[in-house]
Amino acid sequence: SGYFTYDPGFMATGSCESSITFIDGAKGVLLHRGYSIEELARDADYLEVCYMLLHDKTPNSEEYKAFKDTITRHTLVHDQVNNFFRGFRRDAHPMAMLCGTVGAMSSFYHDDLDITDPEQRLRSAYRLVAKMPTLVAMCYKYNIGQPFVYPRNDLTYAENFLNMMFSVPAEDYKITPAVSKAVDRIFTLHADHEQNASTSTVRLAGSSGANPYACIAAGVASLWGPAHGGANEACLTMLQEIGSVDRIPEFIARAKDKADPFRLMGFGHRVYKNFDPRATVMRESCHEVLSELNIDDPLLNVAMELEKIALSDPYFAEKKLFPNVDFYSGIILKAIGIPTNMFTCIFALARTVGWVSHWHEMLSQPGQKIGRPRQLYTGEAKRPYNKIDK
Ligand code: CMC
Repeated sequence: SGYFTYDPGFMATGSCESSITFIDGAKGVLLHRGYSIEELARDADYLEVCYMLLHDKTPNSEEYKAFKDTITRHTLVHDQVNNFFRGFRRDAHPMAMLCGTVGAMSSFYHDDLDITDPEQRLRSAYRLVAKMPTLVAMCYKYNIGQPFVYPRNDLTYAENFLNMMFSVPAEDYKITPAVSKAVDRIFTLHADHEQNASTSTVRLAGSSGANPYACIAAGVASLWGPAHGGANEACLTMLQEIGSVDRIPEFIARAKDKADPFRLMGFGHRVYKNFDPRATVMRESCHEVLSELNIDDPLLNVAMELEKIALSDPYFAEKKLFPNVDFYSGIILKAIGIPTNMFTCIFALARTVGWVSHWHEMLSQPGQKIGRPRQLYTGEAKRPYNKIDK
């Protein structure tokens, strides 16, 4: 009944009104609540960005302190969550465990299920932002067979995450300011990105009134794919496979070959038809971190040369394919000691604030409808049914 527009991949569909994030893909502009990503990455910390995404204003120092205290208070997960982990194979992909355990949170916080109350919604948002680093670090510890490390309230958000990842109870991992700043910046650069696949998934799941933990688990699942958040892991794997500068032309040729499904990972974006501003900051950060840690990673040379060759190639120029946020993030994470299969979990951790901000905004808007696209039916017309014995 009625007419609808056929728009596979939602190339031209605006699905909602939102005041959270603005992107001008032609000019390479990204603003959160009106503030440019370059300024936020340079001058704000991740929790400040979380506050502004959720509250539509920058916090003053008292508000910031109260927000930080609240997040810190919620970092522990229920002890029963340990039992969830024991059900996974030791070598399970961390994203598989994250998807399951985030969804399982809904069974612990029944008081959060009244999604009509804005205060309750914010409380679930805080819980999710606070507990994601704990869950992500647990995924890692489970994989490597080390005991889980409890959150520490005296550390910053990024430091606490690093401590839960790398500390073993007996000895503390030394977190340098350069490392914690780099991780905080990676979180900021991934915090939100308007109606990307995972955020749209969270909105669609939430539009039916589903509970927030289930909605975020849906977001984690959507993020996992290599065309989306899985690209950071795929990009580093690709750089390792290329291995040396002399092999770049072979991979460029494969990326251009229509008969070959290979794509240059970390290149291209649905919205940016110019430089992804996050990639520019990430590239600078990558150089800073490697020089501060005194690491000479040959993959950085491969990445820089690959970027140079691709950008001067007519194929990439015509299709407006530029490096995206995932192109350099993997090299930083690797330098910090984070294994490749954890990269997408870190994206999920950072994007959680974007997901919950959109979910909260959607449920605050009057007249909210369930998300329910239509289709072009390509099956059989009506035909008679013959009983199976005939
Ligand atoms: N390498 C080679 N060719 C490419 C690439 C690439 N990375 N990306 C797009 N193309 C080509 C594609 O083959 C197509 O060519 P043609 O028009 O001749 O068929 C054209 O460019 C348009 O591609 P598309 O897939 O129709 O564009 P899209 O907007 O649907 O896809 C994308 C965007 C990000 C999924 C895609 O560029 C891609 O697969 N990139 C690699 C994966 C990646 O880095 N993803 C991370 C995105 S940023 C982080 C995030 O938000 O998740």
